Amino acid sequence: MGKTISCSVLLALISCFYLLFATALDTITPSKSIKDPDVIISQNGVFRLGFFSLANSTNRYVGILYNQIPVQTVVWVANRNRPLKDSSGILNISDDGNLVVSNGKAEVLWSSHVNNTAPNATTAQLLDSGNLVLSNGEDGASSLWESFEDPSNAFIETMKISTDVKTGRKVELKSWKSIDDPSDGNFSFGIEPFNIRELVIRNNNQLYFRSGPWNGNIFIGLKYMYTDNLDGFEVSTDKPPYYMTYESSNESMLIYYELDSQGKFVEREWDAGKGDWSKNYPIIQTDCDVYGKCGAFGICDSMKRTICSCLKGFEPRNIEEWSRGNWSSGCFRTTPLQCQRDNNNGNGAGQGDDGFLEMKMMKVPVFPARSSIINGECKDQCMKNCSCMAYAYDSGIGCMMWSGDLIDVQKFSTGGVDLYIRMPSSELDKGKSSKIIVITTVIAGIVVVITISALFLWRRMAKHKGRNRKRKQLKHQFCSENKGENSIGVKLHQLPVINFEELATATNNFNHAKKLGQGGFGPVYRGTLDDGNEIAVKRLSKASGQGLKEFMNEVVVISKLQHRNLVRLLGCCVEGEEKILVYEYMPNKSLDTFLFGMEIMEGRRYLGHSRQSDFRVRIIFKE
Ligand SMILES: *[C@@H]1O[C@H](CO)[C@@H](O)[C@H](O)[C@H]1NC(C)=O
Ligand SMILES: *[C@@H]1O[C@H](CO)[C@@H](O)[C@H](O)[C@H]1NC(C)=O
Ligand SMILES: *[C@@H]1O[C@H](CO)[C@@H](O)[C@H](O)[C@H]1NC(C)=O
Ligand SMILES: *[C@@H]1O[C@H](CO)[C@@H](O)[C@H](O)[C@H]1NC(C)=O
Ligand SMILES: *[C@@H]1O[C@H](CO)[C@@H](O)[C@H](O)[C@H]1NC(C)=O
Ligand SMILES: *[C@@H]1O[C@H](CO)[C@@H](O)[C@H](O)[C@H]1NC(C)=O
Ligand SMILES: *[C@@H]1O[C@H](CO)[C@@H](O)[C@H](O)[C@H]1NC(C)=O
Ligand SMILES: *[C@@H]1O[C@H](CO)[C@@H](O)[C@H](O)[C@H]1NC(C)=O
Repeated sequence: MGKTISCSVLLALISCFYLLFATALDTITPSKSIKDPDVIISQNGVFRLGFFSLANSTNRYVGILYNQIPVQTVVWVANRNRPLKDSSGILNISDDGNLVVSNGKAEVLWSSHVNNTAPNATTAQLLDSGNLVLSNGEDGASSLWESFEDPSNAFIETMKISTDVKTGRKVELKSWKSIDDPSDGNFSFGIEPFNIRELVIRNNNQLYFRSGPWNGNIFIGLKYMYTDNLDGFEVSTDKPPYYMTYESSNESMLIYYELDSQGKFVEREWDAGKGDWSKNYPIIQTDCDVYGKCGAFGICDSMKRTICSCLKGFEPRNIEEWSRGNWSSGCFRTTPLQCQRDNNNGNGAGQGDDGFLEMKMMKVPVFPARSSIINGECKDQCMKNCSCMAYAYDSGIGCMMWSGDLIDVQKFSTGGVDLYIRMPSSELDKGKSSKIIVITTVIAGIVVVITISALFLWRRMAKHKGRNRKRKQLKHQFCSENKGENSIGVKLHQLPVINFEELATATNNFNHAKKLGQGGFGPVYRGTLDDGNEIAVKRLSKASGQGLKEFMNEVVVISKLQHRNLVRLLGCCVEGEEKILVYEYMPNKSLDTFLFGMEIMEGRRYLGHSRQSDFRVRIIFKE
């Protein structure tokens, strides 16, 4: 008998100890608080909650960090706006049942701010998902408060970004002020109901980025969604509150997202080889992605040297600003719509002489009205109403129509939808006649080229030039006479060809002493042309695995990306195995960044080394 009792006492002690031990690791209770520098660790050790400082600061914060990553990685901060000034901090459950951070003078710097009817039974547990959950055992398993519902700047797996239209409650990311100051910055990232759901980034509450409407499958204004593998997306479109979450489909990859203090949505993937996070920017990739860059009725095309232009039939509102590169005041219509004229003449809602200009592969403007009518009737519907400025159709959404200003229109090189813009027929006809002019010019051009070529050939034959040389000439032409459009739809003919011998001479036969550096795709040399101009020559290595098509795409992209702060692409050279890009040489400028940095971006986008394909977001709209 005595033996049994002592045995059960022992068992009880053991289980008691076990319980204590288990709760001690990942839970805070009214009787168990933590003091700087204590931490609690989630069950499998993925995350820890505790006190930390950021670089160059003695301020102390309470937050959640990745526990097994050697680099300090903060995903949530409690007292982000009120740091502890010393190491006297305490994190405990207060008498009213809130999780609170207080300092040595018992001043509360942060609290979970909930009404708790059972403070004594309250616990705060850190889960392996990175969620910190405050609950008191009442109402079954429901929690009183969760860190996932009060995010900082990090978006980690299974978290939900949401907006509740009824209560107005939003769960959004909020940027830090700077990399070493976690207090509220200017940017937020959330989901906006509009008429059709979109992801948005706001800067001081002004729209800064929008994803375009959700079509049940993708956000139609997010470029990468068209080009990359969308495995792992899971979508349901039920009633509000709308939320978005993601789950990585590869458990051995550690990825999370962050809204940085510049408003960029950054994908961070742990690179064990480098021992650091590698970064990728899936949402804002070019200036064109910034909301309303080109103003009303402007259109942004990141492939163009000047990214903003006015829609056909429109002109800049303020030419002086526009030419300075401030496009925000947009464009105005030069010829009124026929239906507007009819209305003014009292002819009633004239169906008059308007038509629609088709623009392919577009990011559609903000604030579409939605109608469930089917494709064919979209046009009629829009035509009937003089305030309808444009329409578009997407099989997942139906018919979208816009009235008023068209803002945030962008031309994509892949994906996007076809946008139809209302124009007076006179404007549309102008297009036709200018097309005829273009065609005539092209035909005339071809005739001239043929004549010159014939003369040239005749002269060469007369001179009995060797076959070898002839073959070389044909190769040169490859670069310059790419007649059609390449895969990203841009014409190449303007780009000058520079021949290989000239480049070899300019760089002393690609002499090592002339080497400026080495990028992922090959070395870059400094050279001097016969005319004395200095150039930088990027010779793509044969091992880079670029085919001619990819090379051409890169050439086009880089030449279209030219920008006042970047070096100019002067020409290219394709001969045999050689693929070379020739740039203007700029001493001590952003040359390295450009020649080496940019190619990495292009490599991602065009060479199939796509890290973005691993950006997997699961978007769910449901209660
Ligand atoms: C911290 O200070 C050092 C030296 O003053 C500086 O090199 C470093 O960039 C600073 N780090 C941050 C994150 O500001
Ligand atoms: C929590 O910490 C504060 C500040 O030290 C203290 O005043 C309070 O009594 C503590 N609460 C509990 C329940 O221990
Ligand atoms: C908590 O209770 C007070 C008073 O009853 C009420 O005014 C307040 O809105 C409640 N707060 C929450 C978060 O429910
Ligand atoms: C909670 O615990 C305190 C002290 O341990 C006790 O005074 C108080 O009555 C308890 N409250 C409830 C609601 O059980
Ligand atoms: C935030 O916005 C304010 C006002 O526009 C500006 O003064 C401040 O520099 C911005 N802060 C950051 C970190 O960009
Ligand atoms: C998962 O990620 C790891 C590490 O990045 C990679 O080696 C592996 O191939 C990936 N597996 C799949 C199925 O994508
Ligand atoms: C661009 O022009 C608008 C007025 O149209 C002005 O408010 C804004 O400050 C200008 N922006 C810059 C960067 O100059
Ligand atoms: C025309 O479109 C505007 C804006 O969408 C709308 O307010 C108006 O009711 C429409 N008019 C007709 C006759 O449908």
